[in-house]
Amino acid sequence: MTKRVVLAYSGGLDTSVAVRWMIEEWNVEVICVLVDVGQDLDSSESFDDISRRAISAGAVDFVVVDARDEMADEFCAMAIRANARYEGKYPLVSALSRPVIVRHLVSQARRFGATAVAHGCTGKGNDQVRFEVGTHALAPDLEVLAPARNWGMTRADSVDYATKWEIPIRASKEKIYSIDENLWGRAIECGEMEDPWAEPPSEPYTLTRMTTTEAVEVIISFREGLPVALDGVELSLADLIRTLNHRAGATGFGRIDMVENRRVGIKSREVYECPAALALIAAHADLEDLNLERDVHHEKTRLEPRWAELVYDGMWYSPLKEALDAFITETQRHVSGEVRLRFEPPGVMRVVGRRSEQALYDYGLATYDAADTFRHADSEGYVRIYGLGVKTWAARQGAKGAAPAGS
Ligand code: ARG
Repeated sequence: MTKRVVLAYSGGLDTSVAVRWMIEEWNVEVICVLVDVGQDLDSSESFDDISRRAISAGAVDFVVVDARDEMADEFCAMAIRANARYEGKYPLVSALSRPVIVRHLVSQARRFGATAVAHGCTGKGNDQVRFEVGTHALAPDLEVLAPARNWGMTRADSVDYATKWEIPIRASKEKIYSIDENLWGRAIECGEMEDPWAEPPSEPYTLTRMTTTEAVEVIISFREGLPVALDGVELSLADLIRTLNHRAGATGFGRIDMVENRRVGIKSREVYECPAALALIAAHADLEDLNLERDVHHEKTRLEPRWAELVYDGMWYSPLKEALDAFITETQRHVSGEVRLRFEPPGVMRVVGRRSEQALYDYGLATYDAADTFRHADSEGYVRIYGLGVKTWAARQGAKGAAPAGS
């Protein structure tokens, strides 16, 4: 029987060429699976158009999976609770969608009795790592095929290949940017941005084009570490993210321009637009400042970069990531309340207020006014004992004396 392969299909040039190439070179049957993770599919292009392209490339079947709520409720949700930003900056846009796609590839492979899954990634990026490590974590028996790592075609060769096989692609040989997008934002690579000194052109931006000069204020309500309402209106997380992407993005907020370390040892210049992701993480982290007990907060802050690194590295489905999830989830029981954000064009965001019924902020303890409830006298003995070791050290060994003469 011919081997069956389930391909993660985007409708773009590479995955369309991959269908025909695998059939010709590897003599397999290809089933195309398009997982909708909130990528803004070009409105001129329907799922029917994409389906026709897959079939004309030679696929025996085409399946669309709507994973937008799953992307929001499981993947973006956990990233918010973890305040996840790889290398302190990148909120894991592409890294979060790959495990969603992988999960559906595996389940479609089971449904169609396939023995392999395939992706269109090259050998230079992180996404191949995420597809392969993820698939093997969920289905150690499935093979993973990566035709684009084998075919040795340039982009122009691929366009010729598609033309030869009469695959109706829309890309031209002068493709400039490589863009990956989902609910959590957009990742833009290639073109003139490959020179880290060159300022990114404005052309590929879509989410963060400034369309207002007025400041915009929003209130985000959180329940147990998750955003549940925007300006008092309860929304699904997917809708909340979409709405905030628009409102914050219209002020020009949400761009990142960085050089990052890929898993495969390459430094690359990346440009992102992710207004909602950055705003929600900032708001969430701010509410934690108000509500988390100090030791828990400090420990969580130490673990967050590790969580982001694991997810970036394709380890969404791994025992350490699961263990960190359990810790992070436990810390979120009292992270409920409201955060006020102000977006000031062009592109500035500030947290301007926060409040919560579970806040550990105690006005009586904090105030210097008459309402003060703090027992000042207690501090005398507390500080004496706290500093006793240093005082003893200074007296016997470390005393450097008074400030230098003349100062
Ligand atoms: N550098 C980012 C990451 O590794 C973005 C990758 C974008 N992927 C793409 N196929 N264009 O997560």
